[in-house]
Amino acid sequence: VTDANSKPASSKAANSERITLRVQRQDGPDKPQTRRWETFTVEATSNMTVASALRALQRGSAKTSEPSAPVAFESGCLEERCGSCTMRINGRAAKACSTRLLSAARKGTVTLEPLSKFPVERDLIVDRSRSFRALEQVKAYKQVEDQAAALAIAPKTKSLQERVYQLSRCTSCGACLEVCPEYTLGGDFIGAAALNQVRRFNDDATDPAEKKQRLDSVMRPAGVADCGKAQNCVEACPLGVPLVDSIQEVARDTSARMLFGWLLSE
Ligand code: SF4
Ligand code: FES
Repeated sequence: VTDANSKPASSKAANSERITLRVQRQDGPDKPQTRRWETFTVEATSNMTVASALRALQRGSAKTSEPSAPVAFESGCLEERCGSCTMRINGRAAKACSTRLLSAARKGTVTLEPLSKFPVERDLIVDRSRSFRALEQVKAYKQVEDQAAALAIAPKTKSLQERVYQLSRCTSCGACLEVCPEYTLGGDFIGAAALNQVRRFNDDATDPAEKKQRLDSVMRPAGVADCGKAQNCVEACPLGVPLVDSIQEVARDTSARMLFGWLLSE
């Protein structure tokens, strides 16, 4: 298998290595009985990523252990920005578009599975709507009429801009949720990524009522109080989002609101 950037066939043998992809597959969301392992052999060049190998499989040029449909996976940007290609690579959540196949190989094999905390749609694609609903719940957005209004409410000081930027880097990849013991398949816990967005949007909020609403939205069951403080999330985040600090800050703010809510209400 070659990807679009690989070298011509004549020089390929010297610069490539045969890698086995071991892929967990499932034919549809309502077909758990079809869950199975399949293997594919790819000629991996040094710049081939897991995503480019899977795309090569989709083009139909892979050797498979037996005739098989191409593996389904999601990819939006292919440059580490959208988070949609996140899957379990050798058991750990990672982005397929930034994981080099040769670096990931263990004894010539790379194992791919869908994220385990979301329902499987097909093969390596999962239904992440729960995490997007969480972002809606905490109002992880600002409503503005036009660009002038957006500029008017943008953070003014450099230190606040830097802080908000750091918190804004989240791509909703789900890696922090994958390692969280409290975030379970079919469970309700809102998760670290959405709690971080409460901090991010409250940090530069100009409307106190909006700030209050965000805190209220995570003071319900399955909100910030359900964090078990395992702190796995911050280690798993590929972008260094300070998740533990964010959760602690949100927990402090919700406690203050619970005790002195009338102070924060206007
Ligand atoms: S906080 Fe980090 S690990 Fe969690 S969803 Fe955002 S980018 Fe991914
Ligand atoms: S495809 Fe967007 S992060 Fe990998």
